[in-house]
Amino acid sequence: MAHALSMFKDGTRASPVMQAVAHNLSDSDIHDLAQYFATQKPPLAHAAEPPQAAQVEAGRQLAQMGSGTGLAACFSCHAAGGTGNGARFPSIAGQPASFTVARLHEFQARAKSGAVKPGSMTAVAAQLTDTQIEAAAAYLSTLPR
Ligand code: HEC
Repeated sequence: MAHALSMFKDGTRASPVMQAVAHNLSDSDIHDLAQYFATQKPPLAHAAEPPQAAQVEAGRQLAQMGSGTGLAACFSCHAAGGTGNGARFPSIAGQPASFTVARLHEFQARAKSGAVKPGSMTAVAAQLTDTQIEAAAAYLSTLPR
């Protein structure tokens, strides 16, 4: 969270809403917010309809093993279970599927609008089909945070 807020603050991560919020945060505000949210234990968000089993299974394979077409496993960067790895790789577990789909579409839009850094999430998202995005989002929504 501290990493994400710092990126919004210095403009390296785009979001008109979050950049405006982060703009006025001091380094110690960012530290305190990250400490506070790290102690929270939010319940799993429940979608109106549970995801389909086949979609969840396809998403599990993608997350754990990647795809035959050279797509790296999501968990190779985001850690086993998608719980995140250090400051750079955020937790992706237990988010509502609609959030994950929206975020991945944002990365895809960014990939279309400029140079893509190899190994970045923008580069990963650019390789994903809509079917893969839906599957990954369905699976990740079933995982504990
Ligand atoms: C090569 C490493 C790498 C791989 C593989 C990878 N990611 Fe990421 N991912 C990142 C990085 C780095 C970020 C943080 C980027 C940022 O905040 O701008 C990120 C951010 C995200 C986010 C945004 C999280 C948030 O809270 O804003 C989602 C969602 C996500 N990844 C999903 C996935 C899925 C699904 C897969 C597998 C299909 C995947 N990632 C594979 C490196 C990776």
